[in-house]
Amino acid sequence: MAVRPNIAGIDSPEALQSALVAAQYLADDALSTAAYLSLALQKPMLLEGAPGVGKTEAAKALGGVLGRNVIRLQCYEGIDAAAALYEWNYPRQMLAIRQAGEDYLNLYDEQFLLARPLLEALRNPSQSLLLIDEIDRSDHEFEAFLLEFLSDFTISIPETGTVRATEPPVVVLTSNRTRDLHEALRRRCVYHWIDYPDAALEAQIVMARASTVAQATAEAVVASVAHLRAEPLAKPPGVAETVEWAEAATLLNQQGARWPDAFRRSIGVALKDHDDLTYMMPRLEGILPGEAA
Ligand SMILES: Nc1ncnc2c1ncn2[C@@H]1O[C@H](COP(=O)(O)OP(=O)(O)O)[C@@H](O)[C@H]1O
Ligand SMILES: [Mg+2]
Repeated sequence: MAVRPNIAGIDSPEALQSALVAAQYLADDALSTAAYLSLALQKPMLLEGAPGVGKTEAAKALGGVLGRNVIRLQCYEGIDAAAALYEWNYPRQMLAIRQAGEDYLNLYDEQFLLARPLLEALRNPSQSLLLIDEIDRSDHEFEAFLLEFLSDFTISIPETGTVRATEPPVVVLTSNRTRDLHEALRRRCVYHWIDYPDAALEAQIVMARASTVAQATAEAVVASVAHLRAEPLAKPPGVAETVEWAEAATLLNQQGARWPDAFRRSIGVALKDHDDLTYMMPRLEGILPGEAA
């Protein structure tokens, strides 16, 4: 296995952690270590966890720290190889046929090729971070195809030939774990489960992301959100919701709303599901922060 202990000057998990924090992503030791190992061992990193725990953002922050372009393949139900690799630009080919008349025309010229994320990453592997986002949304067939791609970083285009990466690009996969991923795919990756941040870290994230929020407000919101996450909700609030709720309540408070009320009135930025709201509204007493100023 090719080991690359130093990439973009990052030579330890601690160095990577400092760089991520400087880029406004507050990574804990476990995530920094997993990310460092994935870089050093040149293996993709698989980040799994509930929606909103910071998986996509972690990949983007890593791209920023490494000075690489983040090329994102957003997976969805029914995604197929063409959407991930390349497509031929039919309208342009048609137009060219009309303009060429009797002249020779290569219909499979580069100019007609639409590179999709996987091909884009292969063409420029040393400057790319390939983010394969929410892979659990795709079906098993697509997952098998991805596994093959991640084994040889080669794409064969029947009309023009084979494209092979000169080195493996940095790859991050994320999954919200709506289904289990194939064993073989996990084996190929450095795996890390991202949990919701602990209270102290989440308060720091709020402060880092929302400069208007007072520390007491951040801490109070974090505690309330922890209560909400313990309830049987369809859409438990993620970290983004914590940040927004703190920001929204702070705004209402600055405009004169009193504290518990400022949180209650802005609950719609924390809970975004009608059933969840209906369930929680009568239960908010005792969950909402009291004094936060
Ligand atoms: N460790 C963190 N440091 C800074 N911001 C974070 C962190 N974790 C989550 N966030 C915030 O939460 C938001 C949602 O995270 P996101 O990456 O979209 O979640 P996921 O991809 O897991 O659903 C991000 O945009 C970011 O503002
Ligand atoms: Mg995401």
